[in-house]
Amino acid sequence: MDKRITVRDFANLKARGEKIVMITAYDACQARWCEEAGCQILLVGDSMGNTVLGYETTLPVTLEESLLHTAAVRRGARKAMVIGDMPFMSYQISLEEAIRNAGRYLKECGADAVKLEGGVTMLPVLRRLVEVGIPVIGHIGLLPQSVLKDGGYRLHGKNSEEAERLRKDALAVQEAGAFAVVLEGIPAALSSEITAMLTIPTIGIAAGPHCDGQVQVIADLLNLGGSYLPRHAKMYADFYQTAVAAIKQYSQEVREGSFPAEG
Ligand code: KIV
Repeated sequence: MDKRITVRDFANLKARGEKIVMITAYDACQARWCEEAGCQILLVGDSMGNTVLGYETTLPVTLEESLLHTAAVRRGARKAMVIGDMPFMSYQISLEEAIRNAGRYLKECGADAVKLEGGVTMLPVLRRLVEVGIPVIGHIGLLPQSVLKDGGYRLHGKNSEEAERLRKDALAVQEAGAFAVVLEGIPAALSSEITAMLTIPTIGIAAGPHCDGQVQVIADLLNLGGSYLPRHAKMYADFYQTAVAAIKQYSQEVREGSFPAEG
């Protein structure tokens, strides 16, 4: 990756049929790995609630926690695009609060853009952020911040009513001026249709292979936490087992007195 990808490059990537690679990252170290590996976009997802902060859902993540991690990711990655993921209740209360909070990602953390969940209902917020100069990525389908309202995590858009709602959500995000949209937990055929319908790129997670790009949670890809692997994810390395084995060896060497060595 020679130069940082900008929002203007996105439409060209879609037009050229080049797949967009997004991954979550939560600290400077992970940001370095991902940038070195050639990922174009680092999402400082509010999935940090589950993967890093030990919460059961993303709902408790605070704006301050998200800003802290976004700034760390920015320090680790100079070229990749860094996206701050606005936490629950940081953009839903009023347009004014949404702008103030979104602006902090750009001003204080050096983020390139923000992401927020919701389609038609979030149209005024998305539009206003874009109007004041804050690049935004939308997120529709399975919305982890609505897990309590939805009664759990499930595929969205399986019946015709839900599918129609998702088409409207996708168009609303595009109309608001977002430069891309995350499609989460949507049947592959529907996300393929939405991808063909939109001029902005779609980035899928649990949404099949036909999106313009994919996003995965780094903790799943690398098995950082040793917890269960979601069905849509693939484990490319097992950091959990490697870490436990290494730390076991360290503990054993301290106990038996072979570490540290003399001198
Ligand atoms: O928080 C997150 O990691 C996300 C991705 C799953 C898209 O929103």
